[in-house]
Amino acid sequence: MNLLILGGGGREHALAHAIAASPDCSGLHVLPGNAGTAEVGRNHPGDPTDAPAVIELARQIRANLVVIGPEAPLCAGIADALAAEGIRVFGPTASAARIEGDKAYAKELMRRARVPTAEGRIFEKFRAAHTYVATRDTGLVVKASGLAAGKGVIVCDEPSEALLALERIMVKRCFGDAGNTVVVEERLTGPEVSVLALVDGHTIYVLETAQDYKRLGAGDTGPNTGGMGAVSPSPNVDATLLDRIQADVLVPIVDALRGDGAPYRGVLYAGLMLTAAGPKVLEFNCRFGDPEAQAVLPRLRTDLLGVLSACADGRLADVELDWDPRPAVTVVLASGGYPGKYATGQRITGLDAATAREDVNVFHAGTTLSDGQVVTSGGRVLAVTALGDDVADARGKAYAATDLIDFTGVTRREDIALF
Ligand code: AMP
Ligand code: GLY
Repeated sequence: MNLLILGGGGREHALAHAIAASPDCSGLHVLPGNAGTAEVGRNHPGDPTDAPAVIELARQIRANLVVIGPEAPLCAGIADALAAEGIRVFGPTASAARIEGDKAYAKELMRRARVPTAEGRIFEKFRAAHTYVATRDTGLVVKASGLAAGKGVIVCDEPSEALLALERIMVKRCFGDAGNTVVVEERLTGPEVSVLALVDGHTIYVLETAQDYKRLGAGDTGPNTGGMGAVSPSPNVDATLLDRIQADVLVPIVDALRGDGAPYRGVLYAGLMLTAAGPKVLEFNCRFGDPEAQAVLPRLRTDLLGVLSACADGRLADVELDWDPRPAVTVVLASGGYPGKYATGQRITGLDAATAREDVNVFHAGTTLSDGQVVTSGGRVLAVTALGDDVADARGKAYAATDLIDFTGVTRREDIALF
């Protein structure tokens, strides 16, 4: 099979790495990819949200399957555009991807499907939102409804902070049209867990769980990031709780989407908080998590290409997944200054030594090739994953591998998977 992967982050390198290992993969292409995907496939420059360009490339390489990594092309309808051309695709349609791209819709859908989630209200007018927030006396979370590159959620300790957040989003329009509608919800507390499931329209197959570390600093301090590390499985979810999440969250939401004429095909990601009153949904995403994919996929022993093909064809019921029981820990190496301003073009050393370590995978995110050298090109630069006999072992191996890698300004969080 000829494969085309859309995207260029750590998640896409993890997908490319697993797909390249499949005996059924005869050609692997990535749009746009990074220096890591260039080692296992061929990169093509371009914009994965540009439907005509994606279709042309898929035709040119005779793609038998297109795997869409990030939310932007999914929400832009790239899966629909490919399907309309008769090209097989892994990833939901734009109407199903609304579950991520339109938080107001997701909130309303959860309400209809009786999925446990934070109490929330939806506003299109600043004045009405302001009046509502002014009457609250607890912590609130203000969310731009549209896609804002993972930055559209502002967690506020005080209603006064929430008023400022509303002003930034709705008056100053700091997220542009993504902030035309806002969701204001109660602030929940508890450990977070990412539950990802493959869905083929009907069948739901829950993957191994993961925990993401979203804040920049140790002890969950500092600004939110795209994710500074992950551990799989989550230490906070046992089989009973996972069954409950499947029954109370995944099944009703997949049914509700089908009822809305938007059957879901692809990876459905539920971001949950484990509150004293039980698990509640914070968000849905229409794709693999990043860096969750880098922690979960190395544990999958079953051929990923076969699994993704079965899901795309609606044959998920025939699939059985075999997992490495050992836990995985992923540590992200970021550019100094991230998630704010940072330098790019810094030469990265030690990649080969780290990759050569047993049970270690070095996934590239913000990297590119310059004069044959791997240099930084983004905020999150690498995600280093290690499997171990237990979490402490995996953690030790992952950090030891990151110690071998260097670039000017390199930063990491020191407490990933430290319990
Ligand atoms: P989201 O993109 O909706 O997952 O939000 C990003 C992060 O904001 C989540 O991972 C949580 O850490 C936090 N968050 C979102 N909603 C809430 C909430 N209702 N209560 C507390 N924290 C939240
Ligand atoms: N790790 C969070 C996300 O992928 O949205």
